[in-house]
Amino acid sequence: MRTVPDIKMALPGPKAAAIVARDNKYVSPSYTRDYPFVMARGEGAVVEDVDGNVFLDCAAGIAVNSTGHAHPDVVRAITEQAQKFLHMSGTDFYYEPQVKLAEEMAAIVPVGGGTGEVRSFFSNSGAEAIEAAIKLARYATKRFNIIAFLGSFHGRTLGALSATSSKYVQRRGFGPMMPGVYHAPYADCYRCPVGLTPDGCAAECLDYIDHQLFLQVVSPDEVAAVVVEPIQGEGGYVVAPDAFLQRLREMTRKHGILLVVDEVQSGMGRTGKMFAIEFSGVEPDAVAIAKGIASGMPLGVASARANLMTWPPGAHASTFGGNPISCAAALATLKLLKERLMANAATVGARLMDGLKGLVGKHPLIGDVRGRGLMIGVELVRDRQTKERATTERDAVVNAAFRRGLLVLGAGKNSVRFSPPLVLTAAQADTAVRIFDEALSEVEGRAG
Ligand SMILES: Cc1ncc(COP(=O)(O)O)c(C=O)c1O
Repeated sequence: MRTVPDIKMALPGPKAAAIVARDNKYVSPSYTRDYPFVMARGEGAVVEDVDGNVFLDCAAGIAVNSTGHAHPDVVRAITEQAQKFLHMSGTDFYYEPQVKLAEEMAAIVPVGGGTGEVRSFFSNSGAEAIEAAIKLARYATKRFNIIAFLGSFHGRTLGALSATSSKYVQRRGFGPMMPGVYHAPYADCYRCPVGLTPDGCAAECLDYIDHQLFLQVVSPDEVAAVVVEPIQGEGGYVVAPDAFLQRLREMTRKHGILLVVDEVQSGMGRTGKMFAIEFSGVEPDAVAIAKGIASGMPLGVASARANLMTWPPGAHASTFGGNPISCAAALATLKLLKERLMANAATVGARLMDGLKGLVGKHPLIGDVRGRGLMIGVELVRDRQTKERATTERDAVVNAAFRRGLLVLGAGKNSVRFSPPLVLTAAQADTAVRIFDEALSEVEGRAG
């Protein structure tokens, strides 16, 4: 496959334009579609559109294609499984790929105190993994309230949506939401909700839960779970400091509340560790996983301490959940992550982070660069003092990058996210920085 060209393209090309027009007529208009990229094929971190234009992919289908596009080991695992059988429903029957994957999850998911006493429920998506975790928390604690965070994204099915609080368009018109969900401020240190600076902060944003929610709104002994993303994804790639997650763990433990960590976007090696929560040393009670686990095949997993996942046969299930092809793809993906790609995410991620931080002096639009491994967000502002959100400028930068051959997505109101496949090379990281630099210059009105 060709490398990313050093040109500004007129997009969409004719074939892409025709497909976009048909899509506009027949496909639900609820999808976001920031720019008209129409995929034809991909290899590693490079993708080609239907008109033969080549792009560097720093979006990875929203942080999904962890092993890159069409990794031969993953394709082989899928093909070999497809030649045996496609489906037999894990709800009613047994098949070994699912059992193998559950064993693998028990070894990597940071619950159960390293004993391996972990059980996993398999579904098809991140939202379903969250639904399973919420239902399990309610079932196990016999309590029904849930605490989630402002800016969070947990999915679009009604239970998960009730915990989601990222953008109102995701909730507008769909109410009423599931009762018993409360939202608290997240540790967004660039825009501290309680006006502090990160140095010496003891996660005072959590005082809201202790001093207001628990005293005035909901009794802690009626709260089943706190659901939290260690790094908010859709909310803008906001990294929670360790102290926030550690205090949350203390608080939940004190009140017998389960701590459910949403690693749908931050998990599976993307941050340089298998799960982002590991940076804080916190051990949650349950973890929701999806996206990167099967390199692009649909799979959601809710893993929990074995002594928590004791619901009886028939309590929860899914016809397609944990289908054999997704499980085979996940097993091949996990092997690649452990062998090389998780480490690559750490080293190439550090290089990409350095490169993006190196643009701060040149581009007044950049307010903050943050992240871990290959999960990096750049928040754009109109003024570094007031931190006024550069919303339209963000969209323009994402589009300018597209026309120059770089696929990135927005996150939150005014951030750009870099979530490439974990096979990204150092040279590709440098290309991403170069194109992003040009895109910023174009939007800032300089010669591009
Ligand atoms: C943190 C997080 N949780 C849950 C979800 C929902 O996943 P899905 O779209 O697979 O339902 C997402 C999707 O972006 C996510 O980023």
